[in-house]
Amino acid sequence: MKLVEAEALRIEKASKTLWVAEFSVAEKLRGLPFEFAMIWVKGVDEIPLSIAWLDKQIVGFIFKIRGEGTRALSSIKRGDRVLMKIPLGKGFAPPSGTKILLVAGGVGIAPAPLLAKYCREVGCTLTIVWGVKSSDELCSPSSIWLDGVDLEVATEDGSQGFRGTALDLAMRIARDGVFDYVVAVGPRAMLRAFCREFPRDKCEKLVALETMVKCGMGMCGSCIVKPLPKLLCIDGPVFSCSEVMRHLELSNS
Ligand SMILES: Cc1cc2nc3c(=O)[nH]c(=O)nc-3n(C[C@H](O)[C@H](O)[C@H](O)COP(=O)(O)OP(=O)(O)OC[C@H]3O[C@@H](n4cnc5c(N)ncnc54)[C@H](O)[C@@H]3O)c2cc1C
Ligand code: FES
Repeated sequence: MKLVEAEALRIEKASKTLWVAEFSVAEKLRGLPFEFAMIWVKGVDEIPLSIAWLDKQIVGFIFKIRGEGTRALSSIKRGDRVLMKIPLGKGFAPPSGTKILLVAGGVGIAPAPLLAKYCREVGCTLTIVWGVKSSDELCSPSSIWLDGVDLEVATEDGSQGFRGTALDLAMRIARDGVFDYVVAVGPRAMLRAFCREFPRDKCEKLVALETMVKCGMGMCGSCIVKPLPKLLCIDGPVFSCSEVMRHLELSNS
């Protein structure tokens, strides 16, 4: 993990619900898919965000405005500086030659570009299913570094792509294809449904969780994945369904 100062290059609204924040940093950074950063927005808060892309000295994030911290991040200007701790967490690094299906709900698309880059580099096959309520929540693949990726879209109102949820579409795709790993990232209710309903045939079912991250370095205990004795910032955010099913059942959000 490094503490770096980053300069804002691009902070823009990419769809009705999603924002993109891209920074340049002075040194070359490394990160694995699903690792995250703690971004310190001066005088406001420190926010955990998945690394969406990382290329030499450029790092990008995809986020949704939830409260004060993310609102402040959306209003920083090109040239403004932030501090970030990066990378944090334990990445998900599937072995070469494996087939992966990523099931992303809404802002759950955030870790997808870095996973796609990793897959290109090591030789994994990646299919991404991105589900949103309506097409105005989608952004163009090029604006989030997803050009040329096998990306299937599901909208609940049928305004683009498959009509239904990301999970509905992923189940349909999985009927005809074989995957080594199926990874879901999105709202908790979606993760719960995925772990309960997605057929297990030969694949490993994984979810990327969110809990309250404060220090990001295993020191404060706020990110505990109850009832497990595990910390999201050290052991996650990616866990197997079998491991976190009880955690998902306990939380009602
Ligand atoms: C490892 C990790 C990676 C993440 N990656 C992304 C990402 O790539 N893009 C993105 O948009 N968001 C991501 N998040 C969630 C993001 O950190 C929160 O949206 C952000 O911290 C909210 O801060 P805020 O100050 O804007 O809102 P706050 O004022 O802190 O909170 C606003 C509301 O959101 C709820 N909330 C805040 N944080 C969380 C959380 N972690 N889980 C559930 N509810 C929460 C609060 O309870 C409150 O109701 C990630 C979280 C974690 C733990
Ligand atoms: S956030 Fe402090 S221990 Fe994980």
